Amino acid sequence: MASERRKTILAIETSCDESAIAIADFSDGNVRVHSHIVSSQANLHALYGGVVPNLARREHERNLVPILVETLKGMPQHVSVSKIRNTKYLPDRQAGQIQNIDRILAREPELLHHFKKHILALPPPDIDAIAITTGPGLAPALWVGVNFARALADLWRKPIISVNHMAGHLFSAFLEKREKEMLAIPKPTFPVLALLVSGGHTELVLVKKPWRFHMIGATLDDAVGEAYDKIGRIMGLPYPGGPAMSRLAEEGNPAIYPLPSPMLHSKDYNFSFSGLKTAAFYLIRDLTAKKKLTKKQKADIAASFEKAAIDVLIKKTLRAAHEYRAKSILLGGGVSANRSLRSRLGDEIKKHLPDTKYHIPDTCLAGDNALMIATAAYMTGMKKARNPDEVRADANLILGTD
Ligand code: KG4
Ligand code: ZN
Repeated sequence: MASERRKTILAIETSCDESAIAIADFSDGNVRVHSHIVSSQANLHALYGGVVPNLARREHERNLVPILVETLKGMPQHVSVSKIRNTKYLPDRQAGQIQNIDRILAREPELLHHFKKHILALPPPDIDAIAITTGPGLAPALWVGVNFARALADLWRKPIISVNHMAGHLFSAFLEKREKEMLAIPKPTFPVLALLVSGGHTELVLVKKPWRFHMIGATLDDAVGEAYDKIGRIMGLPYPGGPAMSRLAEEGNPAIYPLPSPMLHSKDYNFSFSGLKTAAFYLIRDLTAKKKLTKKQKADIAASFEKAAIDVLIKKTLRAAHEYRAKSILLGGGVSANRSLRSRLGDEIKKHLPDTKYHIPDTCLAGDNALMIATAAYMTGMKKARNPDEVRADANLILGTD
């Protein structure tokens, strides 16, 4: 665990189609959020029916500097003229340093341009470290964030902390809202079992002690969010399909078109959603052979799909919690915004494991954001990379092996 001394972390997240930056202070289980900005590219990728990696990369290149400038406005000292006058950064910024930034951002010319125009002139913010998502995610998107973090670390002489995106989702479940900008992190009780469900991953992660992650199960094919999105797309729902499907599912009857829960009875903790996706695909194909789906039919299909997916997620999570005697269960990742999953898992824990704590993220922190990356950096002990050049993006990073 990190020392209880106050740490201020600036975190950057660009693993997929959200450009996000946050600055927060952490001390003694309390979190004060100075800034927390998420800029979603969803509307752009919606035109293509899914995330286009090079488009995501281009948008991150455009978005990061304006977001950072906005984020820094949340820092109290940023506007203090006296502190600006007193800082020693000006003489440091010699030609050599600018050359470094030219080199670090050589592959992101648009970002380099914005960086030189808007960031070089700023005083270094009063932060202890820069946290950056290094993976897993889309390589072109990750690299923009990583190189941006490296350039900032070089300019401001700050350490970089590499963060696994899935660790970010895991820790987001611990952030409890207090007042407006204050959050609290309760002392976790171990073992912790985390069900992480997103657009790219479906994982069961066991944490016996802080913070050693053991992945005890994962999807063998599609992630659950991905399956939601694909079925949503086939039914003509807006992108991303997950939220739209879950809204529809609330009005539907899952008994009308029963769909299979893949691997419900398998002895391991792995998942598979491609069979469910295919079954839903054939059902929709048969129903639409003669005429278009009615709203009622769409709702019934969504409800059936959701029931089949959530049944298997809950069953395996509870079985793992029993086997490993989990004292805390947590839910994280974009799909953790799903109301049915949140409430059904909570009800089952209350019923079968009443002494187990249940942590879920606030719905506004369920999707990708940078506050969760700052939290993971703090909670895992502020591990630093010695040299910013050592920090690399890894699209296939696996929790527990990094
Ligand atoms: O964690 P996240 O924001 O990005 C990734 O790391 O992938 O997760 C995004 C996924 C998408 O597949 C989206 O459709 C899904 O989370 N999602 C939902 C809901 N809200 C977002 N899936 C089901 N029900 C929801 N309410
Ligand atoms: Zn995510």
